This record gives sequence, C-alpha cells and structure tokens, in this order.
Amino acid sequence: MPAVTGMRALVTGASSGIGAATADALAAKGATVLRTSRTITGPGSFACDLASDVAPLAAWAGDVDLLVLNAGLGHAGPFADMPPARIPELFTVNVVSQLELARALLPGMIARQRGHLVLVSSIAGAMGVADEAVYSATKAALRSFADALRLEVRTVGVTVVHPGVIDTPFFDRRGTPYTRRRPRPIPAMDVAEALVAAVEHNRPEIFVPSWLRFPARLNGALPALVRTLQRRFG
Ligand SMILES: NC(=O)c1ccc[n+]([C@@H]2O[C@H](COP(=O)([O-])OP(=O)(O)OC[C@H]3O[C@@H](n4cnc5c(N)ncnc54)[C@H](OP(=O)(O)O)[C@@H]3O)[C@@H](O)[C@H]2O)c1
Repeated sequence: MPAVTGMRALVTGASSGIGAATADALAAKGATVLRTSRTITGPGSFACDLASDVAPLAAWAGDVDLLVLNAGLGHAGPFADMPPARIPELFTVNVVSQLELARALLPGMIARQRGHLVLVSSIAGAMGVADEAVYSATKAALRSFADALRLEVRTVGVTVVHPGVIDTPFFDRRGTPYTRRRPRPIPAMDVAEALVAAVEHNRPEIFVPSWLRFPARLNGALPALVRTLQRRFG
C-alpha cells in the first residue's frame, strides 16, 4: 500500500477549497507538497495561470510522485445563454492544462515505476447536471481520460475523485451561489481526507460523500429512469 509519507506531491488549485485542504492533508501526513494556482504565494508554491503554458510549472516541479489535478472553474446557466468564450475557458483550465501537466510529469513516474495521478472530477462528470452542460462535459472528459490511462499505465496509480456539493468559494466564483437546501455542502477537508486515503489504497474512483456512488451507478445501469427522476425532482 503506497503511503503518502515521504512522497513529493504537486497540487493544482492549491490556494483555495479542495486543493488547499488536500495540500494541508498531504503535508500533515509527511508529504513534501508543492502548491500551484494563479494567486498562490509562499515557500513551495509557484504562481501560474493554467490557461497559459504549463511547461515552466512542470520544470519547476521536477520529479513528483503524486500529481493532484484539482484546479477548475464552473459555469451555471442555460447553455443557450452561455457566453461562447466561456466554453474554451472551461475546457482549457479544467481539461487541457491538466492533461498537459500530466503529459509532462507522467513519463518520469513511468520511468521510476512509482507515482500516482489524481484527477478531481465531479458528480457532474458521472451524470448530467442541468444548467451545467459544459462543466459536466469537462468533468466527464477527466473521468474518461483516467479510465483509458489506467489500462495503459500499470505502474502508476490513477484515481478519479467525484465530489458532490462542497463548501468552497467555487459557487461564488462561477457567479451563481449555491442556494439549494439539499444536499448540504460538506467541508473541503472531507474530500481531502478521502482523496489521501484513495491514494494510499490505490482506489480507481471515489465519490465524496460516498452515497453519491449510488445515483452515479444507477445512471450507468438505468439512464432512462435517472433522467425521469432528475426531471421530476431536479
Ligand atoms: N465545490 C464543489 O462543490 C465542487 C464539486 C465538484 C467538483 N469540484 C471541483 O473541485 C475542484 C476544486 O474546486 P473548489 O471547490 O476547491 O473551488 P475553488 O475554491 O474555487 O478553487 C479552485 C482553485 O482552482 C484555481 N484556479 C482557477 N482557475 C485557475 C487558472 N486559470 N490557473 C490556475 N489555477 C486556477 C484557483 O486558484 P487561483 O484563483 O489562485 O488561480 C483555486 O485554487 C475543481 O476542479 C472543481 O470543479 C468542486
């Protein structure tokens, strides 16, 4: 079982929310943690806009044992009203830059026969969410990428994390606050702790909270039923 103690980890989106909690949880377990985001400051951190070239970030990070691809942004509202420029923006930050970073750092992990890749997707990556069509598509892309890569690379762990509603600035930042009473947002540290445990147990996929795996599995098995339920209760 790969312990995170002693690992050299790079966390994207580490200035806030799930990324900050994950970086703290890894450091508490004895990992050496490298943090990146646009606004991050302090020792062991590298400020970088993932919408630009990721090569300087990869060069700064060097050899890492654990890469947590977490940075991301959302957009809520009807697709037909979405400003067209938001589409490439979401795909660039949520998908393209993350995969470019994986492409830069994975060969070293393969050569050392040691490493783990974590992709922070969303429950929206496992089933459609109304008014989040493009966001859902970016998160599903991460999941599909992980499923394929896992078959290709046997010596490197690949974990997909599907958070539900988490108490972070994510909703305010996307411009549409979370106003539903249920499900209630849960702390970012719950995701961080589940993520770290998933790395330690080399789990391919986790849902946080864990009950979310049931609607996701049901959607895979009986999509027409889930569509009906979502239209009626969503
Ligand atoms: N909160 C939820 O309910 C929820 C649910 C499911 C999935 N997720 C996913 O979880 C991940 C983390 O989200 P969060 O809830 O922790 O949100 P958050 O608090 O808004 O954190 C997002 C992080 O991404 C960074 N980031 C955004 N744009 C960037 C860019 N262009 N370049 C570099 N870094 C950038 C931000 O840092 P800077 O602003 O400093 O760049 C920040 O550290 C995201 O991928 C999100 O889609 C969140």
